[in-house]
Amino acid sequence: MSLRVLTGITTTGTPHLGNYVGAIRPAIEASRGAGVESFFFLADYHALIKCDDPARIERSRLQIAATWLAAGLDPARVVFYRQSDIPEITELTWLLTCVTAKGLMNRAHAYKASVDLNTAAGADPDDGVTMGLFCYPILMAADILIFNAHKVPVGRDQIQHLEMARDVAQRFNHLFGNGRQFFVLPEAAIDEAVAMLPGLDGRKMSKSYDNTIPLFEGGAKGLQEAIARIVTDSRLPGEPKDPDSTSLTALFDAFATPAEREAFRAELRGGLGWGEAKQRLLKQIEREIAPLRERYEALIADPAKIETILQEGARKARALATPLLAELRQAVGLRPMLAPPVAATQAKEKSAAQHALFKQYRESDGRFYFKLTDAQGRILLQSTGFEQGREAGQWVGRLKQEGLSALTAEVPASLADGITREELAAALASFSED
Ligand code: TRP
Repeated sequence: MSLRVLTGITTTGTPHLGNYVGAIRPAIEASRGAGVESFFFLADYHALIKCDDPARIERSRLQIAATWLAAGLDPARVVFYRQSDIPEITELTWLLTCVTAKGLMNRAHAYKASVDLNTAAGADPDDGVTMGLFCYPILMAADILIFNAHKVPVGRDQIQHLEMARDVAQRFNHLFGNGRQFFVLPEAAIDEAVAMLPGLDGRKMSKSYDNTIPLFEGGAKGLQEAIARIVTDSRLPGEPKDPDSTSLTALFDAFATPAEREAFRAELRGGLGWGEAKQRLLKQIEREIAPLRERYEALIADPAKIETILQEGARKARALATPLLAELRQAVGLRPMLAPPVAATQAKEKSAAQHALFKQYRESDGRFYFKLTDAQGRILLQSTGFEQGREAGQWVGRLKQEGLSALTAEVPASLADGITREELAAALASFSED
């Protein structure tokens, strides 16, 4: 199987130049490489967590889809779809929700940040926190696991979500896989080389700083107006300028060849006026963006065309998701009623076998003990006290290795009340399988 790379884009805002340089352009570039299978999707269910304005959701979905297509994403080469067109994602979300510890979600940065803000403000810790926000990482895990993605290019703020996706995947594999790995454990791919574009004021370009330059919205005029607002010092034309004193240069760099970058810097040092420099920057950006903007405007004017492309993407995506989900339903016991079910006791033994655990401990009498518990924490086997911890350890080792056959009359341990030898045998068998 080739390397599967998957990226989700939350459909709330309107893409700006920083999104283009930092995410869109490199992702499209990477999707053209050989041996990569790329999945791009509009994370519109995630958008609903942050936004309850239907008009904004609708507009953003269209703008973001048109942006990626205009920027050169080839829907024939990649799988390009909307999250909300894949019902298997929400269905998997529930299966994963049922195996995700609440404590794991309590530790999510985004949720904790809300709690901290509330606490600082003297409000209820969960004020304004929806279950959508709380369970955000599980939906994201489902996005990734349903397609068994290997690599997920994300920003640093998403690393924890990837760790959670791995955790949940592992747990599901362990509980229901019966030795099979339903899910690949995904990895975050953080591209250190990708430029972080500064905004008008030199800080990172970001909507929250209100320092963005629009990508397509507002046309060439909008771009020109934004560039006019880039902060520079007050040196006059003819005065030598420090190329690194403004974000103008970094913006220029993002659209220029190494030789062009050098030439631009040399001109600034030689006294090029800021007004003139801004003209050059506009021309440089337009060289790359103008043809894309034309495509963007044609796409925005024809939403039905985008709809068709996304429907085709959903079809390709579901061709992969539907069979996997059918297997997962089978694995958790959501099965067609065609044959008499596995006897309940057998099922119980199996689940005990999957989570049986030996515990060694010391009591207040100073002696060492071991016990074997099942998934529910029920004690299956209880030892008597030993003088030495080693003795307890040796018995545990023997029981793990030899199973029931080690359990002769001389074993200083007894079966707990109500536990059958069959249940114990099943639990011990799970150790020899590992
Ligand atoms: N949480 C991501 C972000 O805010 C968006 C996202 C949703 C995503 N699902 C995903 C990214 C799956 C990668 C994979 O940027």
